[in-house]
Amino acid sequence: MSYAQVYQQWQNDPEGFWLTAANGIDWVKRPSKALDDSRAPLYEWFTDAEVNTCWNAVDRHVIAGRGKQPAIIHDSPVTGTKHVITYAELQDRVSRLAGALKAKGVEKGDRVIIYMPMVPEALEAMLACARLGAIHSVVFGGFAAHELAVRIDDCAPKAIIAASCGIEPSRVVHYKPLLDAAIDQASHKPDFCVIFQREQEVAKLTEGRDVAWHEFQYGVTPADCTPVAGNHPAYILYTSGTTGAPKGVVRPTAGHLVALNWTMRAIYNCGAGDVFWAASDVGWVVGHSYICYAPLIAGCTTVVYEGKPVGTPDAAAFWRVINEHKVHAFFTAPTALRAIKRDDPEGKLVPKLPTLQALYLAGERADPDTIHWAQNHLKVPVIDHWWQTETGYAIAANPLGIEHLPVKIGSPSVAMPGFDVQVLDEGGHPVSPGTLGAIAIKLPLPPGTLPTLWNAEDRFRKSYLNHFPGYYETGDAGYIDADGYLYIMARTDDVINVAGHRLSTGAMEEVLASHKDVAECAVIGVADDLKGQSPLGFLCLNKGSNRPHDEIVKECVKLVRDQIGPVADFKRAVVVDRLPKTRSGKILRGTMVKIADSQPWKMPATIDDPAILDEIALALQTLGLARQ
Ligand code: COA
Ligand code: AMP
Repeated sequence: MSYAQVYQQWQNDPEGFWLTAANGIDWVKRPSKALDDSRAPLYEWFTDAEVNTCWNAVDRHVIAGRGKQPAIIHDSPVTGTKHVITYAELQDRVSRLAGALKAKGVEKGDRVIIYMPMVPEALEAMLACARLGAIHSVVFGGFAAHELAVRIDDCAPKAIIAASCGIEPSRVVHYKPLLDAAIDQASHKPDFCVIFQREQEVAKLTEGRDVAWHEFQYGVTPADCTPVAGNHPAYILYTSGTTGAPKGVVRPTAGHLVALNWTMRAIYNCGAGDVFWAASDVGWVVGHSYICYAPLIAGCTTVVYEGKPVGTPDAAAFWRVINEHKVHAFFTAPTALRAIKRDDPEGKLVPKLPTLQALYLAGERADPDTIHWAQNHLKVPVIDHWWQTETGYAIAANPLGIEHLPVKIGSPSVAMPGFDVQVLDEGGHPVSPGTLGAIAIKLPLPPGTLPTLWNAEDRFRKSYLNHFPGYYETGDAGYIDADGYLYIMARTDDVINVAGHRLSTGAMEEVLASHKDVAECAVIGVADDLKGQSPLGFLCLNKGSNRPHDEIVKECVKLVRDQIGPVADFKRAVVVDRLPKTRSGKILRGTMVKIADSQPWKMPATIDDPAILDEIALALQTLGLARQ
């Protein structure tokens, strides 16, 4: 069947489509019905089913005779180690870990925070939670203690599972002191913490609270899989929104299983026994879906890579991993390829890649130069696909397992079945092909996408549903061409994308505003050749502040690093007298971005005082931006 036929099939009978896809999953109790629209515009899928995620990702493959097949390959150039875990071993390790958590009181519905680097134990912790029906929330290692504390208070975990340290090429990341500081700061206290001691840095355990990963599993009874309802939350993953408070995206169990399993064949053209590698991090949605769950649900081998695209040791690292582990499908962010291209512009370090079928890119806009470089040197289809933490898998893609559609560079191709993507004007009316507008998806969203935000249904409605009734608002702007190809151009909110990491400028502004000399501030994302965007702060100081500006800037940079974390990559700020605003007081961030990026811009009709923009341009020129 062609893509058009499959999409049509879904349009004709969405529920039938997903019930057929549900055949790929082992159920304790099959769903009698696909969609539950009794609380529209809040929707759920497969509500009355009973199922277990860990069973589908691990146990069923052992029963099917795949026990000896590698489930996880850990390849860690930063520690110089490689380690293979078969499905049988994974079952053993996960059921013991789950047994130990259960013995300490973790039950279905309890939350467990996981704060770990790219080690197989991170996946095992996720799967052990899934085995018990506990709801995990993985926190990315590049966040500071404060961000961890915010998440602890929001989801109130019974336990936290952490590693003693992570390893960045330039330094050891001391997870344990960050964890201790976060628990100190948080009002909610977990009952206990499980610490996975790494030999690169062994952490001191806090008596009475911390238990060591290996010891606490000693002598426990391995746990069986606990069936959960179809709409039971599999996990909560916090993502950046407009304000400093992150949004807890809820992932429903049954829809997640059905949809991810479907994508593995339809989009990635992979099945049991194939090797799949997503070079992301378990702390992000790509890591949840395509390092951990989807490849394992489909019986593939997943690669867990603890390294960088360059510098561990060089720009050939990715190609070594692909050839050494016989990777079929490889997924990364365009920024990683830009880093490789910068070190190896001629592609001299790219060998023949005989097993690789395709390269998948997501997380940010894939620029044409990067796509051309990859096409020329890797000699495989380069598939840009568009998705969000909220959806958990691709909204638009080129579905290689169905049909390799013609590639249009600059477009993540076409809407996937399940997603009726439309471009709307401010009034919520669909616009004609080629016209820019807000990208929205007609409700209901398909299985596996977020049904709500954790403990924040009102915020869910406000953030996604209220602006365009009957639609989910993606927060992206763009257009659809006459052939149905989507083009994602920009965010419509204050979210920026730095090296494939989604960050909130609002969160950075909240931190800057807490500096004692800062009266007012704004953060924008300016274009960056490597990282796509880079944050830049404007600081207006309190009257009477006469301290040297560079000292204040340095303190502000440190403040953001300490409060949000190194991942914010906030390294630049300038002091200005005033910020450009509309007459109603709204800061003109969009105009400042255009000036910084040396793009053509129009004087906003609503501006309060046009002269301020000249001052802003001058300040930006001191940083080498806003070239005339
Ligand atoms: N734990 C702790 N710190 C981390 C971290 C982690 N897991 N990941 C990144 N950091 C730190 C880095 O050490 C760096 O700190 P520094 O300011 O002390 O140098 C900072 O956060 C910024 O990191 P990063 O954005 O990774 O920049 P970089 O200059 O170290 O590397 C790239 C640049 C392009 C190589 C890198 O950004 C990259 O590999 N990007 C791909 C991102 C990706 O896969 N995203 C997933 C979305 S699908
Ligand atoms: P995240 O939730 O971290 O996955 O970030 C989602 C956001 O990243 C989207 O809303 C887009 O703004 C951006 N994004 C993701 N994939 C793409 C893509 N293929 N092209 C353009 N932007 C993308």
